[in-house]
Amino acid sequence: MRVGVFASSLLALLWSSGAVLAAEAADCAGCHEELVKATTNQIHMRIKPFEVKGHLVGCEGCHGKADAHAEDGDAAKVHKLGADKATDKACLACHGLKGFPAWNASTHAAEDLHCTTCHSIHKPGKPAETCAKCHGEQRAQFELPSHHPLREGKMTCTSCHEPHAATESQLRTKQRLNDLCTTCHQAQEGPYVFEHAPVQESCATCHVPHGSVAGRLLTANEPMLCLQCHEFHFHTGYEATDGVQMLGGIPRQSPNGPEGMNKAFSTKCTQCHPKVHGSDLPSQGISGNGKSLTR
Ligand code: HEC
Ligand code: HEC
Ligand code: HEC
Ligand code: HEC
Ligand code: HEC
Ligand code: HEC
Ligand code: HEC
Ligand code: HEC
Ligand code: HEC
Ligand code: HEC
Repeated sequence: MRVGVFASSLLALLWSSGAVLAAEAADCAGCHEELVKATTNQIHMRIKPFEVKGHLVGCEGCHGKADAHAEDGDAAKVHKLGADKATDKACLACHGLKGFPAWNASTHAAEDLHCTTCHSIHKPGKPAETCAKCHGEQRAQFELPSHHPLREGKMTCTSCHEPHAATESQLRTKQRLNDLCTTCHQAQEGPYVFEHAPVQESCATCHVPHGSVAGRLLTANEPMLCLQCHEFHFHTGYEATDGVQMLGGIPRQSPNGPEGMNKAFSTKCTQCHPKVHGSDLPSQGISGNGKSLTR
């Protein structure tokens, strides 16, 4: 109940008078001048005081009642905070149930990360910039020739990941990986009359999310990509010779002769099957029963 009230009144609680906060910070400023100056515009200092489970926002909202400490400066009389579970608990007293209910079940919590590993209350800094410190390998993938435009500044790690969540790979989706991709790529979402099974299964069957050597973020270039599941056909199925060869029990001559393999490996399947993600129009062809994704 209390949490509901907290969430719904957040806007109303935003800084309006601020007198009490200013007074409290002033008490602390006598001895912590630099720090108080640096913290004055911090969001937590701009919220009108209110009570959440006995905490007041302002310095004491996080550090707890500090009157006794302010009298003699005894460090033992105030909550010291940092990268530990006790601090997470203090943060989650306000940000827990409505904000990050799954934090404790997340990979990051399991790996002993803490709120202050990424967030700094008293020093400026963008938390999104912390990811690369620990995930150098993933960051490096964005340097590959084909990559999502992260270093171009069009997105960040948190466009796709929710670092506080316990979803699979901490992705910003409640259900499937595809739902994440299609929030930005609606064109590939379908539904289609003629579906392509692996697309329905997972975009990650053919695409890597961060970056790849192959074009278009593909796991492999065509035709190799498609040949993992399909066979060569038509002229792409001929041996690279001038001679007559048997194909499907019929004697034939390759239209491309000795160049056959070159042609086969340099022909993209999507030149004839451009609707690789799915199609609403039937293919007009010989054997595909209209489902060959040709238009
Ligand atoms: C009379 C001077 C004085 C006042 C007033 C004062 N402090 Fe301190 N505070 C100190 C001293 C001295 C230390 C220990 C040295 C240090 O780490 O800077 C300290 C340390 C702290 C620490 C770190 C504790 C630790 O164990 O590292 C916190 C948190 C803190 N103060 C919060 C506050 C808050 C909040 C207020 C205002 C309600 C406040 N202080 C007012 C003198 C003061
Ligand atoms: C939103 C929670 C929060 C609020 C509000 C807050 N602090 Fe802190 N404070 C922290 C955390 C967390 C740390 C541990 C250092 C870190 O991780 O950045 C800290 C560290 C400190 C320290 C130790 C010195 C240091 O830099 O490590 C002092 C002193 C301090 N705070 C005083 C204050 C004062 C004075 C105020 C009010 C102006 C205040 N804090 C408001 C969370 C808070
Ligand atoms: C007394 C309640 C309270 C405590 C304790 C608290 N916060 Fe907050 N925090 C708020 C409120 C209220 C806001 C503003 C509304 C919002 O963004 O949810 C906020 C905002 C934030 C934001 C968003 C900042 C922005 O610029 O949008 C971050 C990050 C944050 N808090 C981190 C922390 C961390 C880390 C701790 C523990 C060290 C902490 N908070 C402790 C109440 C609290
Ligand atoms: C691995 C790094 C990381 C850790 C650990 C982390 N955060 Fe964050 N947090 C971020 C990033 C990055 C953002 C900005 C998200 C965005 O851009 O949408 C953020 C945003 C926030 C916000 C404001 C936006 C929102 O989603 O409501 C709050 C509040 C917040 N974090 C609190 C916390 C608390 C409390 C903890 C500890 C339980 C914590 N964070 C742990 C990286 C982290
Ligand atoms: C202090 C180090 C550290 C920081 C900073 C950090 N992470 Fe992590 N993260 C880890 C560790 C350790 C793991 C577990 C091992 C792994 O998968 O690499 C992990 C796992 C992950 C995973 C995989 C989760 C899973 O369930 O498989 C994702 C996604 C992730 N982090 C995203 C982020 C993002 C986004 C940021 C920045 C907002 C970030 N991390 C910042 C240490 C960190
Ligand atoms: C376009 C969306 C997107 C962006 C942007 C993104 N990721 Fe990912 N990330 C994913 C997806 C999807 C997966 C899961 C891959 C899978 O399951 O095949 C993943 C997996 C991960 C993993 C788990 C280990 C692994 O490599 O599979 C980590 C760690 C990770 N990402 C970190 C990051 C970091 C750090 C950034 C920013 C530098 C980032 N990601 C940016 C979509 C993204
Ligand atoms: C937050 C939005 C967003 C999400 C989520 C997202 N993308 Fe993208 N994607 C982009 C942007 C922006 C581009 C670059 C488009 C451009 O440059 O025209 C892009 C480009 C691509 C490209 C084309 C690359 C190229 O070289 O042309 C592919 C393929 C792709 N994304 C696949 C995916 C897949 C698969 C997922 C899910 C794992 C995903 N995207 C999630 C925004 C997103
Ligand atoms: C069967 C393999 C496969 C799967 C699965 C797949 N794609 Fe693709 N995708 C491709 C190929 C091949 C291309 C390159 C087409 C070209 O070069 O003309 C491509 C290109 C793209 C592009 C670039 C724009 C375009 O159409 O050329 C985006 C965006 C994209 N895919 C998103 C997705 C999303 C989102 C999913 C999941 C819903 C997905 N793909 C699933 C094979 C696949
Ligand atoms: C991971 C395996 C996989 C990959 C990779 C893959 N496909 Fe498929 N494809 C399938 C499956 C499964 C079907 C459905 C077959 C069925 O229903 O009999 C299918 C169906 C098709 C069909 C329709 C034919 C039919 O009988 O339904 C075409 C055309 C096709 N794929 C072309 C491609 C192309 C072009 C590529 C490369 C861009 C590709 N596929 C990559 C698994 C794959
Ligand atoms: C020169 C054009 C062309 C190229 C290149 C091509 N295809 Fe086809 N493919 C077709 C046509 C035409 C059909 C039959 C369409 C129909 O009957 O509706 C077809 C049918 C198919 C079918 C359905 C097979 C069946 O028995 O119904 C699959 C699967 C397929 N192609 C995959 C591929 C793959 C994988 C590649 C790349 C290695 C490829 N195609 C290259 C033109 C091409």
